[in-house]
Amino acid sequence: MENKTIVIGCDHAGLSLKQKIVAHLKEHEIEVMDVGTHTAESCNYVDFAHAVCEAVTGGQADLGILVCGTGIGMSMAANKHAGIRAAACENTFSARMTRLHNDANVLCLGERVVGYGLACDMVDLFVGTEFLGGRHQARVDALNALD
Ligand code: RB5
Repeated sequence: MENKTIVIGCDHAGLSLKQKIVAHLKEHEIEVMDVGTHTAESCNYVDFAHAVCEAVTGGQADLGILVCGTGIGMSMAANKHAGIRAAACENTFSARMTRLHNDANVLCLGERVVGYGLACDMVDLFVGTEFLGGRHQARVDALNALD
């Protein structure tokens, strides 16, 4: 997980889990950019998905993490951005496989779906797993061509 910069964002429904993930990443000495939201006031997840995706496509961060109530709205918003391959995951297998096979660059989590321990395990796998390339590269290239 070393030497990666992670950008993270959430809406009001993902605030508590985002704060825990930020603390978890910092404990592991991973550089984190937190683009908000920072309060419990109701907000629109699309705005924070946009901020995270801009940081990833702009090269300020290697990978992004987005947290909302379900992870679904965030993944829909993130996948509207060229160059973003966002995956809403609810288990460790998916979090690992989406790096290995899809070269996902944004992980979307639902605070109302997963607990803190599972979320941190998914984050560790997502951040610590590298894309396999090989036969998966042409598929990812075809995905990117849809942008
Ligand atoms: C907010 O209530 C909720 O709709 C949002 O966090 C997210 O789950 C949408 O997909």
